[in-house]
Formats: sequence, structure tokens, C-alpha cells
Amino acid sequence: MANSTIYRKDYLPFDFDILRVHLCFDIHPEKTYVTNTMNIRSKHSSDTAHGLKLNIQDITIDKVFLNQKELHPHEYQLSEQFLEIPNCQGDFELTVQSHCHPRTNSTLMGLYESNQSLFTQCEAEGFRRITAYPDRPDVLSSFTVTIRGDKQRYPYMLSNGNLIVSRDLADGRHECVWEDPFKKPCYLFALVAGDFDVREEKYRIKSGKEVLLQVYSDKGNYDKTAWAMQSLIHAIEWDETRFNLELDLDRFMVVAVNDFNMGAMENKGLNIFNAAYALADPETATDASYADIEAVIGHEYFHNWTGNRVTCRDWFQLSLKEGLTVFRDQEFSADMMSKGLDEETAKSARAVKRIDDVSVLRTAQFAEDKGPMAHPIRPDSYEEIGNFYTVTVYEKGAEIIRMQHTLLGEAGFQKGMNIYFQRHDEQAVTCDDFVDAMDTVYREQHPGKSLERFKNWYSQAGTPTVHVRTEYDDKAQTLTLHLKQTCPPVGLETKRENWVKQPFHIPLSMGILNEQGQEILPTQVLQLTEAEQTFTFDQIASRPILSLLRDFSAPIIINYPQQTQAEKVLLALHDTNAFARYEAKHQLAAQEIIRLSQAPDSEVSPDLIHIWESNLLNPSFDANYRFVLLSLPSETGLYTMVKQIDPIAIHQAHQKTIRTLGERLKTHWQTLLANHLPTASYQPDFISAGRRALCSKALQHLMAIKDPHAIEQAIYIHEHANNMTDAFNTLALISEYGPQEVKERLLAAFYQKWKDNPLVLNKWFSLVARHADQTRIRELINDPLFTMRNPNRVRAVMGSFCTANPIAFHQSGGQGYQFWADCVVALDSINPEVAARMARIMDQWKHYVQADRMKQSLQYVQQHTHSSNVQEIVNKALNI
Ligand code: BES
Ligand code: ZN
Repeated sequence: MANSTIYRKDYLPFDFDILRVHLCFDIHPEKTYVTNTMNIRSKHSSDTAHGLKLNIQDITIDKVFLNQKELHPHEYQLSEQFLEIPNCQGDFELTVQSHCHPRTNSTLMGLYESNQSLFTQCEAEGFRRITAYPDRPDVLSSFTVTIRGDKQRYPYMLSNGNLIVSRDLADGRHECVWEDPFKKPCYLFALVAGDFDVREEKYRIKSGKEVLLQVYSDKGNYDKTAWAMQSLIHAIEWDETRFNLELDLDRFMVVAVNDFNMGAMENKGLNIFNAAYALADPETATDASYADIEAVIGHEYFHNWTGNRVTCRDWFQLSLKEGLTVFRDQEFSADMMSKGLDEETAKSARAVKRIDDVSVLRTAQFAEDKGPMAHPIRPDSYEEIGNFYTVTVYEKGAEIIRMQHTLLGEAGFQKGMNIYFQRHDEQAVTCDDFVDAMDTVYREQHPGKSLERFKNWYSQAGTPTVHVRTEYDDKAQTLTLHLKQTCPPVGLETKRENWVKQPFHIPLSMGILNEQGQEILPTQVLQLTEAEQTFTFDQIASRPILSLLRDFSAPIIINYPQQTQAEKVLLALHDTNAFARYEAKHQLAAQEIIRLSQAPDSEVSPDLIHIWESNLLNPSFDANYRFVLLSLPSETGLYTMVKQIDPIAIHQAHQKTIRTLGERLKTHWQTLLANHLPTASYQPDFISAGRRALCSKALQHLMAIKDPHAIEQAIYIHEHANNMTDAFNTLALISEYGPQEVKERLLAAFYQKWKDNPLVLNKWFSLVARHADQTRIRELINDPLFTMRNPNRVRAVMGSFCTANPIAFHQSGGQGYQFWADCVVALDSINPEVAARMARIMDQWKHYVQADRMKQSLQYVQQHTHSSNVQEIVNKALNI
């Protein structure tokens, strides 16, 4: 069956209010019974009747009652997707009894079993797998939930809000009743039942009330939840101080689960987390995991206001909550990273966070924005909403919020947030409502102007390019800056007729240096609102060097052909803006690797070696900022910068650059290594993490040139490590550069040591996949511990092989692509959501040197899969 397309323009409000809903669960892992009683009121006058259409999916409807009277099956209509009650009017009570099968539910949507416990996932459209309901975010209701289950198997039975009854029943069962004090859409519903370790903490919120915080994890993981709890407390404090937003509940619960499609979910008062983003201790989690956990805990907690108290009218508005909440979690992480540091170090710490975020945006989102799935942050249509939880909606969405923050300033932005909550608390609203709140402030600040043009960021896709041309008049001492923006149609836009793309409102942050590298014009924000605009600067006494797009003030590409290599070198060495300084050396390195990939016999330019040398010799920055300054662009980061992608040539050029920097700066790397060897005690904090990163950076360049001492040191560090960061970084380096025999011995030992810890084992799977050939990768999915049912494991193996192992994945015979196709087909019938994410790996096929072979494997997947999720992805990939 062909997929059907849903359009934003077709939005219609629901005809009924669901005033109250009472859900009663009789839980059994094979078959769970749900009784759903809804008090409903028609929105229309009492004498007109309307059909009440409720969504269902993969559940069995047993009985339906209208005002307590059982309906005959001919009194309602039942199809695969709907339960429809005709002729409803006024106030009435509807009860639906149904059942579902948690144990055999491998989709991980709706109610499912994982490690003997039961969990739900309802966003976006999973609630319909639990009961018949208007499964749309603009229907808000008051929920009461009764759960009955076996007391031994399920000593904890949780749902949203407050526990109001807990009592024993006959036959070893017990009952809990939960009441959520806030109205919510059904996608925020959650239920968890099982046996857990619970970490508890009392917290006094700003206004004085004491609240209960709990983190639930599988038995035996208690010690691994301390960091999540601490992160939660930090998140609550941060939202109170920076956004003046307080927790609105008496109790807030976080639960970790092993089998989870995404990172985590913000269900009201009962956040459910992929264990990878909740559990950590020094021996099993890397520095990156610690940082991720803090960010994800923050993100889900921040949704309590931006997402839950004010939610989305329809799923086209997803960026309303996700873009805004990503912006908030980015700021949270930046504030946490820079807390307690002196002003300069704090600035570079914030820059490191910004650099990481921008690199995700440019690697993944810029690619998405020129591929078959290109869409505006507020899409106009979709087939499967699950496919629209994209880097565009999330990361570009966050950039669009960040630009509003830049335009309004922190105080103005907070004022806008206030207006937003005053107008829309407990409502389901649109992206326009958000910008209108910000616009109220903007108009006050800039009489006669508005954010109307800014809204084009919501309706148009693609990455704008700003073309820069400068004229310097040394007699008049003026600089004229000509700016022109372009953004050709992408994705579905290319199919629209009689439509012209409009200019964007772009805040362009810039400064000016002189030829001695001194700043002669501090940071200013130009507002580019027209297709072409000119700005002039007076009293520029000497030839200006432009530092453009400071802090990456807009998600755009700068095209400035007049800028010379020498100017870039100067910025890379002297720019006062930590981001722009990084950016200049990043551009130089990217250009260089791309050039080498096209001219493999040429040598790395002296400029690059000079910049690296000067950064190696300059100890004045903190470790993390030095680490980013000493890091080369990632290979995949270069893919969006070339016309045609030759992954193997890029890989070789990248490796060659690593080796050249290793050879030419050997003694500096040795000194860096000696100064950053592991310390006796482990702290996960940001500065210590930066030191570990530098250690591994130095080892990398030395091991790449087969420095025997460095190889020995890596083995030593690996074998004596007191933390997973050092242990894993060295194992990864040994896998890449170490002697074959040592590599195999250490990988086997790692597997043995960690085979009972699924999260650590994923790191092993991902590392082996990164270096596997065709034989090894097929062995890997036949490993007794591999399973397609655990999304983290699938991502570890498929994700790494297809995105981080260019040599095998892009091998000339196309066997790597066939491996991808076989996996997507196998996953399609188990977990379509995850299968569709994996399917997207081939999105950019047209841009690769092996486009034909990639296309063949896409066609294979098109023919052998059934889910609408995967079909949407491959059809779009093949049709555009
Ligand atoms: N609301 C999402 C979780 C979600 C997404 C559920 C898609 C169902 C379908 C949650 O708030 C979220 O955005 N999680 C992110 C992590 C976050 C730190 C960006 C995720 O799961 O990747
Ligand atoms: Zn989110």
C-alpha cells in the first residue's frame, strides 16, 4: 500500500474535549488489559451530532460502553486504524476495553517489555497502541491511572503525577493509583512496572516547597545513578535561576531502560531514559557519556515547561518544543562547563560547547538540508512523523531560537519567554505563537521593525549562503561590506511551482582585526534582512581583516572569495573570538585535507603545520579549547564541503595529515603527552576531561607514525586505567595503529571483562565494527551477544560500520552497501522506527563516487521492506 501524506495546511481542531480520562491497567507481560473511561464533551452545540474517531494500532478492542451501557459491535465502526462512534453529542462517558501484548511488542512503541519490566513510549503516536484515543497533541486531558499487577514481579508500578492509592489485592497482586495534577496530551503519558533500585533525594525548590526526586534503574545499578541525580538537581537549579522556571510537581521520577528507541522521553513527572543516557560510573562510562547524561537529563527536565506546560498544536510544530529545548540544554551545558572559571577560561569553555554543537549541525544538518529529506524546521508535510525527529527540527531549530536570543539579548529573550508562558500556559500552540511572543519584545526594542521576515526560517529549508565582498578605501579610511544572500530550493521545494524563496533575517556577528592581529572593531551584530545589503565602517585606519560569523551567529555558509590564506592564518592565530579563531584553523585544515584527497602525492602545507605548532606551544588556553584547536575536522564533516564525496580518498588524506603533523611536530606531541598522562584519581569534570582528551590526541599523532614508545605507553595506560575514558581511548588507538597481535589480545580481553555489561559491550561492538572487514562484520552480527532487538546494539554495529568505517563500507564491490541493505530489511519487521533511522544512512547517495552501487542497494531495500517508515525514506531518496 502506498504511503499517505499528511499536510500542515489540513489542520482542523478536534470536535470534542476529553475532560477526564481514567485508565485502568491489569498488567501481565503476555497480555495486558486496559480499561479506558473518558468523560467527553462535544465542542458543538448540543443538537448537532458528530462522529467520534479514536486512533488505534495493533490492539484488540474487547468492549465499548456509552454512558455505562455496552454497545453492540454494529453500533460502532472498527477498522485497522480507527474506532469510530457515530452521532455523539453533548456530554457523555465512553469506556473502551482492549488488550495488547507487551512481550511480543518489538517496536518499543506503546507498552513493551524490557528485562522483565514494562515500559511505555507514546511520543509521537504510540498511545494508540495502548488504548483507543484521539492520539494528537492538541487534545489535553486530566489523567488518572490505576495499575494492578503481581506484587513480586512488579513491586514498583509508576505513572505520571502523584501516587494517591497503594494497596494489596488478592492473589499476590497489588494496586497503585496515580493522578496527574496537570492536563496533558496523551503522548506524555507513561507507565513503568518492575523491580528496581531507587535513588532518592529531597530538593527544596526556590519557592520553598520540598519535592521528591527519584532515579530508578535495574537492580544492581544503584551506584551508577549518582551522576544522573546530580545532573537532575543541577538542571532544576539552572532552570530556576536562568529561566525563572520552577518544578510544578511534588515528585519527579527518572527511569533507565535498556531497550529504547531514542535517547530519552519527557513524560510528565516520569521521564524514561535510554540507560546509555542515565547510568555512569568512572569504570564504565567515558567523559563523553558523563557530558551526554548531563545534557539529556537537562533536556528532558526542561521540557517540563517547554513542551509539557506549553505543548504543540500538531506534530508539524515539533520544533516549538524540541528546538527550544535543545537551545536550553545547550545553554545549560555551556553554563555548567564554564561555572567557577575565570572570565577568559569561561569564554573558551563556552566556545568549546559551541564548537561541538556547530560541528553536529554542519556535519549532519547541512547534509540533510541538501538531501532528499530536506525540510524546513516546521515541515509542511510528512508520511511518518517518526521520520521527522530530525537534526533539522532539533539542531537547526535550536539555531533559530539562538538567533532570536542574539537579536533580543538575554534580558529581552527572557522577557519574551515570560510573555510566551503568560499567553500560552497549558495550551497547545504553534511556532508562530512563539515568534509572536518574541516579536512583542523585538518591536519594543526596534520601533517600526518586526520579526515577520524572521519567520521565513520556519517555512523555508536549505542552508543560505552569504556572499561577502569588501572594498577598503585607505584614503577615506572606510570599509564597505557588500552582502548578498542566496538559498536555492531544496528537497520538496524543488517541486513547487510559481514559488520564489524569500530572504532570511540573518544576524551576522563580526569583528575586525588589523594586520598585526589586533582587534580594531569589537564584535557587532549586523542585521541582514534583504537579498543584498551594504554596510560601511568609518575610521578603519589600516587594512582590515574581517572576522565573520563570530560564535556562528546564524546557520549559514559564508562565501568570501577575497579572503586570502594569509588572512585565515592570521585569524587562526590571533582572533580574539574563541569560536572564530577555531573556525579559521578549521577552514584551513578542511581545505587542506580536501586538496590532499584530490592530489594524494602533494604535501601538507607549511601553514597548517605552523598553526598546529603554535597551538602546541601555547599553553595559555584550557585543555578542552586546546583539544579542539589541535583536532582536525572529522572525515564526515568534510563530506558537505565537496561536490563529490570520495570517502576513501578523504580517509587517506586525513590519515596522511595526522601522520605529517605527527612527524613534523613529534617532540611537541611527546611533551604534550608527558604533561597529560593519567592521574591517580578520576574526576569527570570538564577540565580533567580536557586533559584526558589531550593525552589521547598526542598518542594518536605519535602512534600514527608508529612511535614505539607511544604504543607501549598506550598499552600501559590501557592496562592500568582506573576509568573507561583512558581505557577505551587507548583501546581505540591500539585498534587503529597498534600491532595486530596486541590489538586482538586486548579486544578479546575487553569483551570477556565486560560481556555482562550491555552499555560497555556496545562500545566494544562499535569499535570492532569500525575496523571490521566484510567477514568480520558478518561475524559480528552472528555474535551470540548481538541482537536486532536492542536499538543501542544495532546503532553500535550498523551505525559504526556504515558511518565510521569508510574503507569497508565503501569497498568497491558494494558488499558494504549490501550489508547495510540486509540489516535494514531484517530490522524493518522488528523495529520500523529504528530501521528508518538506519535507512537514512544512504540519503546522500547521489553525492558519492559510488552512487550507482548505492542506488542499487536502496532499490533492494525499497523492494524488500514493508513499513511506511522505511518506505518514506527510501522512496524519497530514490525519487528526488
Ligand atoms: N521528545 C523526545 C523523545 C522522542 C523523540 C520520543 C522522538 C519519541 C520520538 C526527547 O525529548 C528528545 O528529544 N530526546 C532526544 C535527546 C535530546 C537530548 C535531544 C533523543 O531521544 O535523541
Ligand atoms: Zn526533546
